[in-house]
Amino acid sequence: MTSNNVKPLTLGVVGAGAMGRGIVQLFAQAGHRVRCFDAAPGAAGKAVEFALGMIGRGVEKGRLSAEAFEAIRAKVSACDEIAGLAGCDVVIEAIVEDLAVKRQLFAALEDVVEPTTVLASNTSSLTVADMAAVCRHPSRVAGLHFFNPVPLMKVAEVIAALRTSPQTVQTLSELVNGAGHRAVVTADQPGFLVNHAGRGLYTEGLRVLEEQVASPADVDDVLREGAGFRMGPFELLDLTGLDVSSKVMASIYEQFQHEPRFRPSSLVAPRVAAGLFGRKTGEGWYTYDGDTRRAGPARTGPAPRAGAAVWIAPQASGRAGLAAQLSGAGARLTDDAAQAEVCIVQPWGGDASHAAAELGLDASRTVAVDPLVPLALRRTLMLTALTSAAARDTAWGLLAADGVPVTVINDSPGFIAQRVLATIVNIAAHIAQRGIASVADIEDAVKLGLGYPHGPLAWGERIGGARILEILRTLQAQTGDPRYRPSPWLVRRVALGVSLLTPEAARA
Ligand SMILES: NC(=O)c1ccc[n+]([C@@H]2O[C@H](COP(=O)([O-])OP(=O)(O)OC[C@H]3O[C@@H](n4cnc5c(N)ncnc54)[C@H](O)[C@@H]3O)[C@@H](O)[C@H]2O)c1
Repeated sequence: MTSNNVKPLTLGVVGAGAMGRGIVQLFAQAGHRVRCFDAAPGAAGKAVEFALGMIGRGVEKGRLSAEAFEAIRAKVSACDEIAGLAGCDVVIEAIVEDLAVKRQLFAALEDVVEPTTVLASNTSSLTVADMAAVCRHPSRVAGLHFFNPVPLMKVAEVIAALRTSPQTVQTLSELVNGAGHRAVVTADQPGFLVNHAGRGLYTEGLRVLEEQVASPADVDDVLREGAGFRMGPFELLDLTGLDVSSKVMASIYEQFQHEPRFRPSSLVAPRVAAGLFGRKTGEGWYTYDGDTRRAGPARTGPAPRAGAAVWIAPQASGRAGLAAQLSGAGARLTDDAAQAEVCIVQPWGGDASHAAAELGLDASRTVAVDPLVPLALRRTLMLTALTSAAARDTAWGLLAADGVPVTVINDSPGFIAQRVLATIVNIAAHIAQRGIASVADIEDAVKLGLGYPHGPLAWGERIGGARILEILRTLQAQTGDPRYRPSPWLVRRVALGVSLLTPEAARA
């Protein structure tokens, strides 16, 4: 809990709300002297009590000695006035997210602290340079963006604004790392690192819905069970609240000068207007009884039909596994597509209709199965624009015969998992391309800040850089949408045959 190798500092925390009290707790338990100030009378004292209460649980659980707790308690205090922050080495503000109020605070802080005191903002969406601009010493101003709840979310973004000194970045990074969190350094760009990298899941999930490919529950199921996300985009939007998320989506799109990758969905505004915010209003993409999500309609697939003749495209990348599963379900595999009741294709990046047309198959008897999602986890069955109900039910029954869930979707380039994952990898590559953060910081920030099972570039590497590029190029070709254009970072690494985790060479 407590770090021994970091020099204890005197820290000021301004703003004693949800974030401020977590910041007090984190640094108090790391052994620093912490003073908390809030404009609302009594709020700082309550935050200190709260933080000490949380730390005190460690004593009850035997993780912290009573003496160590007393030593921490002696070093944490609330102050009634901003002047109480004089002499702090670092002041971190976590007040209301309002630029004018934050600018006022920074100007006031400069009159209280030493010229060497580092001033940091926990802003999640404002430009740090806008706060530094009111300071006489902008080189000591940086962003220090924690996530909620601070003690449990083990990452913080150190945001280097244009005039921030390397020393300021280093002081904050050491402070964060010394408290047992991972400091990632990022440029003063929209969404910084974590909220920027997290765009893909929402924008692409919403796009899939917009195109009538699948329901929110189907999208969430495929991404959670098939790809390994803790939550799908619609579950996450319901948790955060669409009223809040819609503003973030719009703001990042605006700040990136209408970059098509971040284009928000027109599905969102009417839902916000209707009050469908999610859990907090009892209804969003799902409906809730209190905190519990109401179960959707149970959907059982048709029974498998033994002896059904099935043709699998010889070039399908998951052919062997698929053939074994279908034979086990009683299908009769045939080499003659013309005689088959169902023809199965496995496109990368493309849709089932294009695949049927390219192979000269009868689209009414053709379906596609996602080769990316492991067959043991969940199967995504994609229809062409013309697939008959009979062909769909035959394929569905056979694929569901061993009890692994099947998601049936309409025609979509890249299924669900391919297009969402390729988008996430591509955004991470763009972040690296633009020098917003290092490869190592992108990877750790996404794992710790977003809870993804892999860093985005490592994920791309597992799928294969060339494969990701193929998915993106096919998506771009079939939709004509520039949001899928691949990052030069990705294209170059694939051209050279090197890992996506390869940073730029350090040139003297
Ligand atoms: N809540 C989150 O999930 C989250 C996550 C990351 C970053 N942030 C950012 O952290 C900051 C704080 O968010 P929060 O959720 O803790 O807010 P909050 O509303 O819970 O707390 C804000 C506190 O700041 C105090 N305050 C307001 N103006 C002040 C001033 N001029 N001087 C001193 N105190 C003042 C308020 O009295 C209140 O106690 C915001 O910038 C927010 O964008 C929030």
